[in-house]
Amino acid sequence: MVKFDSNDVFLVVGATGGIGRAISAKIVSLGGKVIGVGRNADKLKEISAALGDSFIAEARDISTDMQSIAEWVRSLAERHGKLRGLVLAAGLQDTRPLSIVKEANIDEIFSANFKSNLLLIKGFAKKNVRQAGRCSCVAISSIVADVGIAAISVYSASKGAMNSAIKSLSVELARDNIRINAISPGHIETEMLQKGSKFFNEEYLQKLHAKYPLGLGKPEDVANLTCFLLSDASAWITGANYIIDGGASASFFNQ
Ligand SMILES: NC(=O)c1ccc[n+]([C@@H]2O[C@H](COP(=O)([O-])OP(=O)(O)OC[C@H]3O[C@@H](n4cnc5c(N)ncnc54)[C@H](OP(=O)(O)O)[C@@H]3O)[C@@H](O)[C@H]2O)c1
Repeated sequence: MVKFDSNDVFLVVGATGGIGRAISAKIVSLGGKVIGVGRNADKLKEISAALGDSFIAEARDISTDMQSIAEWVRSLAERHGKLRGLVLAAGLQDTRPLSIVKEANIDEIFSANFKSNLLLIKGFAKKNVRQAGRCSCVAISSIVADVGIAAISVYSASKGAMNSAIKSLSVELARDNIRINAISPGHIETEMLQKGSKFFNEEYLQKLHAKYPLGLGKPEDVANLTCFLLSDASAWITGANYIIDGGASASFFNQ
């Protein structure tokens, strides 16, 4: 059984999203403390009210002023306690066929889904920022880094870049006892899925549901796995990428 205590401080980036919010709530329910980051101040306020004192809200756009990210992470640890873990759950999805992809779209998606994440990990890995001995970072990637879905090539590539970086970082950061893993969810019922779905008709959505032997995922499914990977119960796991997709990618006949 995973348990945290009030000294277990986790930085959750993307805490205002469907998945990040569920992860924050799960950490708090297990006894830990969350510094939750997002851009939407109203959502941060609402989550603070729901989760109480164990949730510390920090508004920030991680795609701007990126050179200050590592120093900002240090200042969070100074104010709220050294970090036991980092959760990378912010992300931008953009449904865009190749014919209308522009350089600016590539920059925008890679800034939010890859560049900022590397700089957040760099900040977290500093000695004066993290707790000694038992630190863990979890990045929410996506199944589309490994399976093909049309019109999301830039998003898929940004997730694939993250997965590759995690392999290298797991080796590099093991020397400092920092573990780092990816979780690759299939379709999870959050705002991101709703935004993507507005481009598709009812028939497409029905086909999407049919591809999932266990139905679409819930943010809590991802939160449970994240907390396991943040905890000492996964002490010998690093450099891994966990697919969590209700059997969709294992299933041949539903394709
Ligand atoms: N939902 C799915 O089906 C699914 C499947 C596979 C992987 N994922 C991945 O899971 C992660 C979470 O997705 P979700 O479904 O929870 O999405 P969501 O509900 O749309 O939330 C996205 C989160 O990212 C934050 N964010 C985006 N750009 C940001 C920026 N520049 N600075 C700071 N925060 C930023 C948003 O903050 P604000 O709202 O405050 O701006 C929000 O907290 C993403 O990495 C996504 O790619 C999702």
